[in-house]
Amino acid sequence: MRRSQFATRTGVIAATVGSAVGLGNIWRFPYETGMHGGGAFIIIYIACVLLVGIPVIVSEFAIGRGTHKNAKGAFASLAPDSPLRFVPYMGIFASMLILSFYSVVAGWILEYLYQSVACIFDSASSQAYADRFTGFITDSYRPAIWAVIFLSINFLVLRRGIEKGIERISNILMPLLFVILIVLCINSLTLPGAKQGLSFLFKPDFSAVSPSMVIGAMGQAFFSLSLGLTCLLTYASYFSDSTRLVRSASITAALDTLVALMAGVLIFPAVFTYGMEPQAGPTLVFVTLPEIFAQMPGGHIWSVLFFILLFFASITSTISMSEISISFFIEEHKMSRNRATGLNTLICMVFSIVCALSFGSLGNFTVCGLTIFNLFNYLSSNILLPLGGMAIAIFAGWVVNRRFLNSQILLPGESPTVASRCLIFCIRFVAPVAIAVIFISGLL
Ligand code: TRP
Repeated sequence: MRRSQFATRTGVIAATVGSAVGLGNIWRFPYETGMHGGGAFIIIYIACVLLVGIPVIVSEFAIGRGTHKNAKGAFASLAPDSPLRFVPYMGIFASMLILSFYSVVAGWILEYLYQSVACIFDSASSQAYADRFTGFITDSYRPAIWAVIFLSINFLVLRRGIEKGIERISNILMPLLFVILIVLCINSLTLPGAKQGLSFLFKPDFSAVSPSMVIGAMGQAFFSLSLGLTCLLTYASYFSDSTRLVRSASITAALDTLVALMAGVLIFPAVFTYGMEPQAGPTLVFVTLPEIFAQMPGGHIWSVLFFILLFFASITSTISMSEISISFFIEEHKMSRNRATGLNTLICMVFSIVCALSFGSLGNFTVCGLTIFNLFNYLSSNILLPLGGMAIAIFAGWVVNRRFLNSQILLPGESPTVASRCLIFCIRFVAPVAIAVIFISGLL
């Protein structure tokens, strides 16, 4: 049977950007920026995207598109005896961990979307918003049910396959996402606190730079660009041979960063207008924003739009995470697509129920002082993503033969340019060394 491919060039970009743009941009980036003091964090973040992010995206693209196989098959066909053979298995494992806790947050989004539609945000005090959020996430079954509902929607998209499922939904949802985001940003810019919000976001205060900030920026870049778990490798295996990899990688990185910055533009002016704390952390979107929406004229509509935006962003990301193991089950274990998708969904449902309940009834169950949700988050984002990213750059830059990498980066008949040489230098040296330094300093 012919292997599936994305049908169009826009489909390739929509799906890849859809994978990259997610909770990482709209939920995590603004709170990380807020906690790390604003502007300076953003500059370091952009440096990580350029020097490490793009080279690793191109490495994943090259391995995937060059072999047209799932990650395990790709590594095995390029270097069957390499000690880096473990990378695809780590990718499958870590993607399941991420999918499990990601679906929990996506479930919270569904609950908040439901509450916005039903007009329930009318609490009087700030404390009431915080209490409402805590009450919900510690509930003994609601968050788990929403996570299961979210994973079921994810399943329904994925079982339809690459072209009819992933490509189609990305082609529809990504343009909508941009439209909603632009409308919300324009609304934020008309608020009285816009100037203060923008200056917090864009004026760098270099005294805030610290090792933990650099680690945060790097982890954020990996998470936001969907790197290190062979997710983009798997998508690239569905690219056609004429897709320009470097251009697609640059567009992905640029749009992903743009969306993250726009999320900041959407959130911080409102935070300053209504006198909230930019350092609120992970609850920024669930506690601070609903309170802001309730005070805004037309807030009901803005909050519905905002949670729809978050839902679109999450689903296009979770389908990409799921495809890592689905392609593995189909190609290496000869399962049907339906069965492979079902298996992936089932495993993640079990894990995500445990994650969802780890804020409430399973809260006392901890490993190394972390609840299951935090353990999955920490282990995947801070350890497995950077390790995977480093291994992938080393694999593409050192293990695979040089001609292969060149043939993927350049089109047939093109000779190496300064830009392509710089890129290969970053893949071989800059990315692995930078990741290693930052990773090790994080462990110390
Ligand atoms: N990039 C997505 C986000 O920003 C999350 C994501 C999708 C991801 N696929 C991934 C993260 C693979 C790490 C690895 O929300």
